[in-house]
Amino acid sequence: MNVLGIESSCDETSVAIISDKSVKANLISSQDFHTNFGGVVPELSSRAHLQKVKPLVEAALKKSKLNLNEIDVISSTGGPGLIGALLVGFTFAKGLAFALKKPFVSVNHIDGHIFSGFLMKKKPEFPFLVLVVSGGHTLLLFVKNVTEIYKLGTTVDDAAGEAFDKVGKMLGLGYPGGPQIEINAASGDENKIYFPIADLKHEFNFSFSGLKTAVLRYLQKHHPENKIVAEDLKNICASFQKATVDALLQNVQKALNSYNVKSISLVGGVAANKKLRDEIIELADEHKINAVIPSIEYCGDNGAMIALRAQQLFKNGIQHNLNLTPYPSIPPNHFLEFD
Ligand code: KG4
Ligand code: ZN
Repeated sequence: MNVLGIESSCDETSVAIISDKSVKANLISSQDFHTNFGGVVPELSSRAHLQKVKPLVEAALKKSKLNLNEIDVISSTGGPGLIGALLVGFTFAKGLAFALKKPFVSVNHIDGHIFSGFLMKKKPEFPFLVLVVSGGHTLLLFVKNVTEIYKLGTTVDDAAGEAFDKVGKMLGLGYPGGPQIEINAASGDENKIYFPIADLKHEFNFSFSGLKTAVLRYLQKHHPENKIVAEDLKNICASFQKATVDALLQNVQKALNSYNVKSISLVGGVAANKKLRDEIIELADEHKINAVIPSIEYCGDNGAMIALRAQQLFKNGIQHNLNLTPYPSIPPNHFLEFD
């Protein structure tokens, strides 16, 4: 079965084709021009998706050595995301499905990330814990099987990636901040500055706004004129990165003590962070479970994770109709709660 997946929820246009056994193509076009604006400009994002989506579908078919008639299922991200950006991808996908008379599957973007570990050779085993860390979400979930996903915790304010991006902006590192903070942190001292992390009543929830404010206060106190010398910049990045990773790991550790799982998976854009990857692997080793972290190309937004999730859903008898509702069929918050 060949599944085409289109992702256009934010600032990456991506088209992938997967078969039962492998990823045949996963093409990603990143909209780096948002850097100039310090964040994603929705209207510009929609326009760029519109320019890229068709050429990317053609290129993915060429790379896969397939023609359109050999595609069995067509899928796209249905939400959550920027509505204008989403509209481009899923309207294109629905149009294609209509013209080719093929089934269409609308995929929840977060589900795409959750199951992205299945794109790897070593796959998560059910039940598994997954930490979703992206620009818009921070979630700790217990995944019982492909359709039963329980929410253990989420952020009460900023997402982890958002905190990286906002701190990056404060430090003049442009957008997105995460990769730049990681580069600067590599040669900094992570124990130089103490940035406090939240300890919330709800044991699996996260909060990053206090940490973000702590960095702001530090900058106001030590660099009132905003002239940060390189050494201090590196130490701020390293200390902030350590605090963020500690905050994430603290809850994963608690969840591993409370739930019996076979694997832990780390997914989403922030999963590209090496310190976070290394610490999750270490924690998994301590608990003698398997750690599954997608390779970098599958951490950020990509079409392969959308196609893979569509394949799982389709095999479970799920497909969606082609009526042109302005917002797609899958609600963003569909996770189950433990009693
Ligand atoms: O999953 P993603 O590509 O898009 C969303 O769905 O949000 O995640 C993007 C986020 C951004 O906030 C970016 O700063 C962060 O992932 N990110 C990183 C790294 N690479 C990307 N954060 C920390 N370290 C990185 N190496
Ligand atoms: Zn994402």
